Amino acid sequence: MKDFGVKPYLFPMPVYMIGTYNEDDTVDAMAMAWGGICAENMVALNLEEDHKTVANLKARGAFTLSVPGRDTLVASDYMGIASANKVPDKFARTGLHAVKSSRVDAPVILEYPLTLECKVLEMQEQPYGLRVLGEIVNVMADEKVLDAEGRIDSGKLDTFLFDQVRFDYYAVGEICGKAWHSGAPLVKGE
Ligand SMILES: Cc1cc2nc3c(=O)[nH]c(=O)nc-3n(C[C@H](O)[C@H](O)[C@H](O)COP(=O)(O)O)c2cc1C
Repeated sequence: MKDFGVKPYLFPMPVYMIGTYNEDDTVDAMAMAWGGICAENMVALNLEEDHKTVANLKARGAFTLSVPGRDTLVASDYMGIASANKVPDKFARTGLHAVKSSRVDAPVILEYPLTLECKVLEMQEQPYGLRVLGEIVNVMADEKVLDAEGRIDSGKLDTFLFDQVRFDYYAVGEICGKAWHSGAPLVKGE
């Protein structure tokens, strides 16, 4: 085994898109890998303070958190490079489209197949960074990613994962097991 010291090396990392409104009601979105579900109805976002998204979260108290498909990889990566602090028309440049959420003061980006509509619950400004806790008020999914029973079929999201060591994106592969079932043969009366 080789030692690498203290690094943020875990794989896979997700790529989620945080959608917010700027003060002039234009849309901002940024890529986020350091966060995700932290309770049944909650998400945690770990953010650098200087992002435009953070100012928007403070001003509007709401956001959307979306799973991008591979068809939007270029636009989504761009929104992880450019900041609306410097590029006011950042979102417009991507060619993506958004409508206002009916539940929260945040944009729903139409090209993203799965979107969580969230309210800011807490901004935790810690010495080690800013963590934003959000309450999920609704989950929306495009019809095209539903299975015959109307459930979300994650394979149909056709999303991608982030490798923080080599900065590559990976397509999500095939199903290889069943959670809480694949290990069942080893269960001995626990
Ligand atoms: C794959 C990827 C993952 C990222 N993850 C995070 C993250 O977890 N937290 C963070 O603060 N910035 C993250 N970023 C950087 C922001 O998306 C980037 O700084 C963006 O320009 C901020 O936009 P804004 O200033 O318009 O809000 C990530 C970027 C990429 C490409």
